[in-house]
Amino acid sequence: MGFDIAFPRPRNIAIFGRLPCRSLRVSCSFRTYHRSVSAWNARGSVNATHTSAAKQEITGTPYSELSVGVPLEIYPNEHRVALTPQNVSLLLKKGFSRVLVEKTAGLQAQFLDQQYRAAGATVVERKDIFELSDILLKVRPPVFDQEAGLVKEGSTVISFLYPSQNKEIVEALAARKANAFAMEMIPRISRAQVFDALSSMANIAGYKAVLEAANHFGRFLTGQVTAAGKIPPCKVLVIGAGVAGLSAIATARRMGAIVRGFDTRAAAREQVQSLGAEFLEVPFEESGEGGGGYAKEMSKEFIEAEMALFMEQCKDVDIVITTALIPGRPAPKLITKEMVSAMKQGSVIVDLAAETGGNCVVTKPGEVYVHEGVTIIGFTDLPSRLPTQSSTLYSNNITKFLLSIGGNGQFAIDLEDEVVRGSIVLHNGVRIPPAPRPVPPPVVAPSTAKAAEAVENRALTLGRRLQEKLLWSPPEWAPLSLWVN
Ligand SMILES: NC(=O)c1ccc[n+]([C@@H]2O[C@H](COP(=O)([O-])OP(=O)(O)OC[C@H]3O[C@@H](n4cnc5c(N)ncnc54)[C@H](O)[C@@H]3O)[C@@H](O)[C@H]2O)c1
Repeated sequence: MGFDIAFPRPRNIAIFGRLPCRSLRVSCSFRTYHRSVSAWNARGSVNATHTSAAKQEITGTPYSELSVGVPLEIYPNEHRVALTPQNVSLLLKKGFSRVLVEKTAGLQAQFLDQQYRAAGATVVERKDIFELSDILLKVRPPVFDQEAGLVKEGSTVISFLYPSQNKEIVEALAARKANAFAMEMIPRISRAQVFDALSSMANIAGYKAVLEAANHFGRFLTGQVTAAGKIPPCKVLVIGAGVAGLSAIATARRMGAIVRGFDTRAAAREQVQSLGAEFLEVPFEESGEGGGGYAKEMSKEFIEAEMALFMEQCKDVDIVITTALIPGRPAPKLITKEMVSAMKQGSVIVDLAAETGGNCVVTKPGEVYVHEGVTIIGFTDLPSRLPTQSSTLYSNNITKFLLSIGGNGQFAIDLEDEVVRGSIVLHNGVRIPPAPRPVPPPVVAPSTAKAAEAVENRALTLGRRLQEKLLWSPPEWAPLSLWVN
C-alpha cells in the first residue's frame, strides 16, 4: 500500500509516498467477458469471480452514441461540480457524442457556463440533463426525491454513493434499471490511484483543516523574533496520519508550526518524520494495520495508552487536528471533555472525523463550537469549502475512471475488472453485493515487548522538546532569520 500525494520537499527532507503507478488502464472490452448478473448473483460466494458460472459476451456501447451529463449539485452548501471544462474537452476528444452541463453547474467552483461552452459542452436546463444523459457524473449521491428517480432508464450514474447509508436512493436508481458506481468504493490498489477521489478529497480536507484552525487561532503559526517581541511557534498535534493527516502535517509545517503526529499504523512513522514532524508513540507492541492500507480497531489497552498520551499533549499543544477513522466503524473517541478543558485558552481542535461521530466528544458535526475557551471545528464539508481545487481533482478522478470502464472508444462494464467490480453498486438495476475486502487481523492483547524501545524514543523526544525550549529562549542579539521556523 502506498500513498499517492507527493508534497514539495520541506527543506532537505526526503519525499514520502510514491508516484502513481500507471495513469489509467484501459481494459479490452471485446477480449473480456462477464457472467450475467443473475447468474452472478446466484453464486454462493462473492469470492468466486472466476467460477464456471454462465458467461455472456458483453458488447460495449461506442462513445459516439453516448451523452455525458453533469447536473448542478443541489445538496445544501455543496459547491463542487463533477466535471471541469478541461475534462469536457477530453471526453469530447475521446469521442463522446455530447457533454451536457446544467446551467450554472460550475459557478460556485468558478467554472462559468461560457468556459464550458468554449470547451465544447452543451449548456442545458436541469430537466434535459436527466432526460438525455446516458452517463451522469455527480459529486454527491443523487438526491432521493429530486434526482434519483429522474435518471434516464438504463443510464449509468457515477458519484459518491455510500449505498448502505442511502438504500432509498439505490432503490430509486434500481427502479430506473440504472448502472451505479460509487466513487468511494473504488479499490485502493496501485492501478486505481488515479481514480481515488477519497484521497483527493482527504488531501484537501487536511489542508483546509489547518487553514480553518489558523483562522480561529489568535497567534501566528510560525515563530518570529521581532523588535516588538519574541513569538514562539504554535504547536500542532495531528492524530491519524492517513491521507488527510499527512496533508495537515505538511501544511502546518509549511506554515511554520511545530508539528507532532500519531497513528496506530507503524508505516505512518516514516511518513510523518519525512515531513519534518515528530512521531509520537505509546509503549505497546500492537499493529494498527488492517487490510488494504486501512486501520483496524485497536485493543482497549492501546486506546487507553494513546489517550493518556493525548491528555499530556493537550496541556502542551495549541491546535489538535484529529483524523482517526476505521472503515465501517464509528470514529474512535480519543479526545475527552477533560482533555479539552486541559487545553490552553484560545486553543483550537479541528475534528475531521465529525461526519462519522467525531474523535472528540464535544464536537458538534457541521458546527464551530466553543467549549471552555477552546474552539472545536466540526465542519463536515471541508473539500466543498475549497471548491475549485476539489472540483478539479474530483473531475480528473471521475473522468479517468469513466474512461477506464471499457476502452477503445467503447463504454463496457466488465465485472471481471477489479476496479469495476469493487465500485459497482447496480448493474442494469440489479444490486451487486460489495466485493469482499481483505479481512483485518483480530484485535489482540498488547505485549510490552517494545516498551524499552518506546522508553528510549520517549527520552529522545524529551531531548528534542528541551532543544525546542532552548531554541525559543534565544539570546537578545540573535538575528531574526535564525529563529524563524
Ligand atoms: N491507492 C492506494 O494505494 C492508497 C490510497 C489511499 C490511501 N492509501 C493508504 O491507506 C492508508 C489510510 O488512508 P486513509 O487516509 O484513507 O485512512 P482513514 O481516513 O481511514 O484513517 C485515517 C487515519 O487514522 C488512523 N487511525 C485509526 N484509528 C486510530 C487511532 N485510534 N489512533 C490514531 N490514529 C488512528 C489510521 O491508521 C489512518 O492513518 C494510508 O496508509 C494511505 O497511504 C493507499
